Amino acid sequence: MKIQAPIHISGITPYLPGKPMEELERELGIKDSIKLASNENPLGPSPKAMAAVQRELEKANRYPEGGGYYLTQKLSRKLHISPESIVLGNGSDDVIGMLTKAFLVPGDEAIMPSPSFLMYEIMVQVAGAISIRVPLSSFSIDLTAMAAKVTPKTRMIFLTHPNNPTGSIITEEDFCSFVRKIPEGIIIVLDEAYIEFVRDASSLDSLPYLKKDQRIVVLRTFSKAYGLAGLRVGYGVMDPDISSLLHRVRQPFNVNSLAQSAATAALDDIEFLEKTLALVHDGLDTIYAALEKMGIPYLPSQANFLMIRVGDADRVYKNLLQEGVIVRSMTSYGFPDYIRLTIGLETENKRFIKALEKVL
Ligand SMILES: Cc1ncc(COP(=O)(O)O)c(C=O)c1O
Repeated sequence: MKIQAPIHISGITPYLPGKPMEELERELGIKDSIKLASNENPLGPSPKAMAAVQRELEKANRYPEGGGYYLTQKLSRKLHISPESIVLGNGSDDVIGMLTKAFLVPGDEAIMPSPSFLMYEIMVQVAGAISIRVPLSSFSIDLTAMAAKVTPKTRMIFLTHPNNPTGSIITEEDFCSFVRKIPEGIIIVLDEAYIEFVRDASSLDSLPYLKKDQRIVVLRTFSKAYGLAGLRVGYGVMDPDISSLLHRVRQPFNVNSLAQSAATAALDDIEFLEKTLALVHDGLDTIYAALEKMGIPYLPSQANFLMIRVGDADRVYKNLLQEGVIVRSMTSYGFPDYIRLTIGLETENKRFIKALEKVL
């Protein structure tokens, strides 16, 4: 008999990550390509994190510290929030999965912006629940339309701040009026994977809200500004009543010991963080200026990536690949005339502009 999975599992469209550089180079027969496609940190990992991993490696015969004691303590001091409010994850992806596992049952509804980060939809479907996708308005999250989608079945709302792929933010004012419209008992997840890059002063400061509103969960990650995407470590901050439920569905050793030590050390590497932010902000400003000079429209962004309007995105993506520059076409996100570019090193940004000039 053929082995069958329930329809809500077999119906999942798997998450398609950007291809590794080595694989693309082999496929295309190119060399020295640059990857500006996955919103990674181009500087590499923080040097302090790398040194910590080296030290920790010697103890790799031991299981990791299950609750991530040192990292949790350090985050607690940095964020001025109790350790009981913090749940570590194998990337913030993992915390999304814990939330959907702990709170959603088949038939429940979860509201999310569209397009946005694809893992919300996948995790909601794994739980057998229903994703209610609310289109962006002028490339930003439409909080009014999202609030209007609440029904008695709504259990969770995802907000991405800044949003991926558009780089838009939520203002303090808009969030305040949104939260007032949402009934009790619905969890509001603010995914802040790119929060460190925000420069706009009107942007929402989420942690004070979280401290006074039990429904709010904030997700953050070490994958972007801290340069640790390959080690997989992120976290959620939430009311201790919610975190105690997440600990029931969490794998006991979900964050490995190398990742824990790297993240703990990275929090002390202020120099690396500042260097990263300066690089991304200078890179964005340089790219804006170059695109304006070329007359190419773009969306100003509060993250470490931006969307650029190039016409036929799939064609431009392929032609850029031939030049050894890997970006993302936004066709599958519903924007067939945009590509998304991750800010790279100064030399990489220059090479992108040159390649774009050539293929356009
Ligand atoms: C909006 C958003 N949330 C979460 C993540 C996942 O981050 P992590 O590496 O911590 O799982 C990403 C990764 O690209 C993202 O873009």
